[in-house]
Amino acid sequence: MAILLVLLYTLFSASTIAYSAFAPFVPPDNFLIDCGADKSSILNDGRTFKTEDQSKQFLQAKEEIKVSVEKGDVPSPIYLSARIFVTDAIYSFHLTKPGWHWVRLHFYPFKNDQFDLSKATFSVNTNKYVLLHSFNMDNNTNYVLKEYLLNVTDPQFSIKFMPMKNSAAFINAIEVVSAPDDLITDDANDLTPVGKFSGLSTLSYQTMYRLNVGGPLVNSANDTLGRTWTPDGSYLKSKALAKSVTVATTVVKYPDGLTPLIAPQSVYASAVEMAESNVNNPNFNVTWNFEADPAFGYLIRFHFCDIVSKALNDLYFNVYINGKMAIADLDLSHELENQLAAAYYKDIVVNASLMSNGVSVEIGPSKLDSGDLNAILNGLEILKISNSVNSLDGEFGVDGSKAVGGIGTRKTVAVVGFAMMFGAFVGLGAMVIKWHKRPQDWQKRNSFSSWLLPLHAGDNSFMSSKNSIGSHKNNFYSSTLGLGRYFSFAELQEATKNFDANEVIGVGGFGNVYLGVIDDGTKVAVKRGNAQSEQGLTEFQTEIQMLSKLRHRHLVSLIGYCDENSEMILVYEYMANGPLRDHLYGKNLPPLSWKQRLEICIGAARGLHYLHTGTAQGIIHRDVKTTNILLDENLTAKVSDFGLSKDAPMGQGHVSTAVKGSFGYLDPEYFRRQQLTDKSDVYSFGVVLLEAICARPAINPALPREQVNLADWAMQWKRKGLLDKIIDPLLVGSMNPESLKKFAEAAEKCLAEHGVDRPTMGDVLWNLEYTLQLQEAFSQGKDDQDDGNSIATVAASPAIVPATPNASTPDTRPVSHPEETNSPAKSQATDEHSGTAMFAQFTNLSGR
Ligand SMILES: *[C@@H]1O[C@H](CO)[C@@H](O)[C@H](O)[C@H]1NC(C)=O
Ligand SMILES: *[C@@H]1O[C@H](CO)[C@@H](O)[C@H](O)[C@H]1NC(C)=O
Ligand SMILES: *[C@@H]1O[C@H](CO)[C@@H](O)[C@H](O)[C@H]1NC(C)=O
Ligand SMILES: *[C@@H]1O[C@H](CO)[C@@H](O)[C@H](O)[C@H]1NC(C)=O
Ligand SMILES: *[C@@H]1O[C@H](CO)[C@@H](O)[C@H](O)[C@H]1NC(C)=O
Repeated sequence: MAILLVLLYTLFSASTIAYSAFAPFVPPDNFLIDCGADKSSILNDGRTFKTEDQSKQFLQAKEEIKVSVEKGDVPSPIYLSARIFVTDAIYSFHLTKPGWHWVRLHFYPFKNDQFDLSKATFSVNTNKYVLLHSFNMDNNTNYVLKEYLLNVTDPQFSIKFMPMKNSAAFINAIEVVSAPDDLITDDANDLTPVGKFSGLSTLSYQTMYRLNVGGPLVNSANDTLGRTWTPDGSYLKSKALAKSVTVATTVVKYPDGLTPLIAPQSVYASAVEMAESNVNNPNFNVTWNFEADPAFGYLIRFHFCDIVSKALNDLYFNVYINGKMAIADLDLSHELENQLAAAYYKDIVVNASLMSNGVSVEIGPSKLDSGDLNAILNGLEILKISNSVNSLDGEFGVDGSKAVGGIGTRKTVAVVGFAMMFGAFVGLGAMVIKWHKRPQDWQKRNSFSSWLLPLHAGDNSFMSSKNSIGSHKNNFYSSTLGLGRYFSFAELQEATKNFDANEVIGVGGFGNVYLGVIDDGTKVAVKRGNAQSEQGLTEFQTEIQMLSKLRHRHLVSLIGYCDENSEMILVYEYMANGPLRDHLYGKNLPPLSWKQRLEICIGAARGLHYLHTGTAQGIIHRDVKTTNILLDENLTAKVSDFGLSKDAPMGQGHVSTAVKGSFGYLDPEYFRRQQLTDKSDVYSFGVVLLEAICARPAINPALPREQVNLADWAMQWKRKGLLDKIIDPLLVGSMNPESLKKFAEAAEKCLAEHGVDRPTMGDVLWNLEYTLQLQEAFSQGKDDQDDGNSIATVAASPAIVPATPNASTPDTRPVSHPEETNSPAKSQATDEHSGTAMFAQFTNLSGR
């Protein structure tokens, strides 16, 4: 035993010594974050990625969600969780040492039946550099690693994720790790004109390719700097001309000044040489081709190690980039003071002006009349160089300034200096000029609507209001209704104290919602679209037309609008008690009684029933959720945020296949078939019912996995007949168990897998009214008798529950509430059938 221990110890210390000879690099800054994860992940390279909570970074995000998948085709667990942002989000780091830092962003675009991250489009900036501009995964479903090497000079370092409009940003893991100072030194060779290039240390880089030429994959476990070196085979122009050579890694020596930090031994221990170099007198090049963005310059680092020569001064060769001589007559044994198998590297800068289509690297024999005709390459790194406005993607800088040609930095300084002077003199004029300098399609390139789902966008979100669907636009023109009241901009300025930040009662992607007071002291909610909004004026007007047509006691009504000075402002009735959600959880408001909750659900159901059946075509809300059910001063429920959609699929040949909705509320069938019917609203309303009774969010990522999704979780309990175990504790004891049972049944039917199996809103409404009657009878019975046996009384006494058919058969009678409507669009549907037919038609048209 003792001998074994000694042996082990010897082995261990031997390997320690071997390592310490290369003085392993200990990064002063080492942030490894497994975004959205609930616990840290240990990789097989030994590194530990911590959760956001454990790591010392700071995340600032207004609307975000944590998501995860069980498994995926990924190399490490860090890809299985993500954080999704609907608005800008910033990770801030306090760095301890300036200089080179790796910034690695890991993306894995997983999808489930609620969202598809491969459709997300977003930009990523640091405080100084643009890393990704309008980035998306382009249908790619594989994981992606973006690696940057930034010379960070400010101890406050931040990474900002910016989703494009109607889209979202996501990130699975982040690394911010110090790199050695001498990893990139100031000097390199220019490709042409041949000469010295200096200033490399002030630029920043993105790794485009890093190859272990002639060898296998070397991953972060085999590279102390966490780099990955991929095999080169797929980039070879002709595999037949290339031959791999490999030696034992221990053969590779590092001359003075070089360490494995430049590249590990396993990279130098393999190479590609010219095939058949020893047979004929070969006269050809070995060529690798790479894709590259011609708008940028590149730093190309060649790694050589002569593992093929038998004797010194036997190998002379040339290296070309894009057909131009990069290194002529390279004699490694001369460069390395007569050593074979020693590591050597050379940096070449390619000016953007020399870039054509991609980068091509060639090696071939020298014309010098000595030695073998052969050429080798062991490793290759192609790094994109930041442009004059510190961007590594696109031509605009963090501040919106536009890049000028070349890669020098001096020019940038001059341009910025000039712009600042100009700005100081001309003030706003400079801004206008900057704007005009942008390419014509700038707006287009910056706007995307491909993201599948706007996520839950918070209270009073304007974003969600864009997700509803309107009826056929052409019919608006035949409407006899006006557009509601026209407000002048000045009027609304006065009403909102000039859009005072203190008057903001809601914030969304589309703009802010302000509390306003108009003429007679009437309070109104003023939604102001922001200047960058994509919504065109025509769509805006069309929407106003539709909205002003809808009048119902349980729909929030539009009072008027303003489109002066290309403003896009909508004025709604003010709902003093805000969203239903605030009364259920999270805001510590006085709890609602069961009866109040029922009445609110009934009100919302009436509003939706009217939307579905009350107009000629029927309108599908598309974003039913507890934040879109608002309460007035009497706790009367009104459905809000409907009809603002510019994606109305029937309008002017528009086709909308994009699934819209909110996390946790989305009809799974709608998602699968991309066909919208009124039954999708019914599904979402089922989730609202559960939220009302369980008093928890539709999605709560903080809970254990099986509890995250309210609909799934509650239905599991319902099927066991135990829904009462998870209801809001504040309700326990005050409910008629029969009323609870009926309510749970209604919710369950709404959540049926297939739309055809779900009830109409009319049925739901009817069931809820019955539930309320059961509850009222119960309360009355309780008051009268207070003997706790009232349930039996209720069940046995049809007289107390008038006009109630057998509770177990769903009633399909139409429900009419003429007293609820003050709309001249009087067509309160009285025939369920016609409503269904209309939706069938609607669906067909939307598929055009
Ligand atoms: C980073 O850039 C600054 C100038 O911007 C320079 O002084 C410094 O040496 C650079 N750091 C490294 C590690 O090259
Ligand atoms: C992505 O998929 C869509 C639809 O399948 C297709 O139209 C589009 O061309 C694809 N994009 C790329 C970059 O392959
Ligand atoms: C990487 O490291 C592992 C363990 O340290 C070793 O078994 C493997 O051979 C290495 N791979 C390469 C390509 O060096
Ligand atoms: C190798 O490539 C360079 C640059 O494209 C070219 O000038 C040279 O003639 C090529 N050599 C051979 C032997 O084909
Ligand atoms: C890149 O090329 C352009 C045009 O030839 C030149 O003006 C610029 O100075 C070059 N930049 C560098 C860094 O060599």
